Amino acid sequence: MATAKRLDIAVLISGRGSNLQSLIDACADPHFPARIVCVISNKADAAGLQRAARAGTTTHVVSHKDFPDRVAFDAAIDEILRGYNVGLICLAGFMRILTPEFVNRWRDRMINIHPSLLPAFKGLHTHERTIEAGVRFSGCTVHFVRPEMDDGPIIIQAAVPVLGDDTPETLAARVLEQEHLIYPEAVRLIALSRVRVVGSKVIIRDAAPVTGAMINPGLVF
Ligand code: GRF
Repeated sequence: MATAKRLDIAVLISGRGSNLQSLIDACADPHFPARIVCVISNKADAAGLQRAARAGTTTHVVSHKDFPDRVAFDAAIDEILRGYNVGLICLAGFMRILTPEFVNRWRDRMINIHPSLLPAFKGLHTHERTIEAGVRFSGCTVHFVRPEMDDGPIIIQAAVPVLGDDTPETLAARVLEQEHLIYPEAVRLIALSRVRVVGSKVIIRDAAPVTGAMINPGLVF
């Protein structure tokens, strides 16, 4: 029996690549509706490149330092992506700001994962700022990419409590565990054509209903 066509995705990384790994693991299941056709890193020493190599995935290193400006760097990435006829770009710890031209060309075909409940705590040092603000919950967000950083229609979020004795490291670890669940799930839903962008929001067909609330009082004394 012919297998259904899988969505061809590219994963862009700059470092550790644990989210890349979660996508590699998901795609290892032949029934998963997407497959990784290439991994692109702007850093030659990104640990994620080893993960891709171990999985037998083609990798490309495109160093931003080899290009005079962002436009030229983005054009080089774009050319690689077009060569693979990529259907979806997954930014997974990719630490370069992409030009509005590039972002608009891939509008609704490029997603990102961010370790906060967006639109709160955009940008870097998320967990430090989350703890500093004294909020009781944090989490992670998978969203479509728009030209502004960490902006765009939200596809999936997962929430975790912020505990009284959390350090940025313990909170990051709790959030990361959820990142590894929701990123493959977002890709799965997109690959199954169940995700639609309507204005500034995303609607998902046949999403399981969720009810209830979590209450976290925070520090107890
Ligand atoms: C993750 O926390 C992700 O949310 C953020 O950058 C980090 C990348 O980690 N965008 P890894 O490289 O996927 O392990």
